[in-house]
Amino acid sequence: MNGEVRQWVRTARHIVLLSGAGMSAESGVPTFRDTQTGLWANFRPEQLATEAAYRSDPAMVWDWYQVRRDSIAKVQPNPGHRAVAAFQRRHPGRLTVVTQNVDGLHQRAGSPGVLALHGNIAEDRWLDAPRACCDASRLRDGRPPACSACGNLRRPAVVWFGEMLPAAELEAAEAAAQTCDLMLVVGTSGVVYPAAGLARATAGRVVVINPEPSALDDAGDAVLRGTAATMLPELLAG
Ligand code: OAD
Repeated sequence: MNGEVRQWVRTARHIVLLSGAGMSAESGVPTFRDTQTGLWANFRPEQLATEAAYRSDPAMVWDWYQVRRDSIAKVQPNPGHRAVAAFQRRHPGRLTVVTQNVDGLHQRAGSPGVLALHGNIAEDRWLDAPRACCDASRLRDGRPPACSACGNLRRPAVVWFGEMLPAAELEAAEAAAQTCDLMLVVGTSGVVYPAAGLARATAGRVVVINPEPSALDDAGDAVLRGTAATMLPELLAG
């Protein structure tokens, strides 16, 4: 472990931790771009994780998300998630988690105020703007459930291809990135924007933590070749 990076953590006034799928790999959640076992093996995300796909075959896409929800409900936060949450408890207000992950594991580890840029797979929202009759506590059962009066469908509260990121989360993440003095970029391939752009927009130091090369290595003041669950407990021990 790079002693200089530990020193940066100790002295930083505000740290942003930007996480991607690799953050949850050691919890048993597959990453996206692993071609053998990845989340998108046997699945064409550009064709299915879109609003158009949902409207044309809602049951099929809903069922795919149900399978993922069931498997994520069975996994646990790993020592990396727990080290982040413990640091936040010891140092209130000093670390902001910005995540591309929809698995909710940072939140389940106890991290407060997580900025979930791509939504949360455990939650639903309305497909069309809700009308007066749309009441999430009185749904017509189905795949997917719907408003019993007008038929408006529920959908997973995740960001699909071609959709905007949630504006409030993105604005808060941009503000945190611009003002932090240290950004830890953990477990992301760094190829999906605007999330990856946060690491290029910060005036602070950037530390990349990833066992493999990533597209953000060139933005790193330091690149640590290790995993989230092994590096973060050591780095955030103070
Ligand atoms: P990727 O699957 O693209 O990248 C995962 C990264 O984690 C890779 O760089 C791996 O080398 C690294 N990695 C693997 N195991 C690790 C470990 N134990 N510790 C640390 N790093 C590890 O996932 P993301 O970068 O998160 O968006 O993908 C970004 C976005 O692409 C996703 O949020 C998703 C997708 O389009 C949406 O769904 C909107």
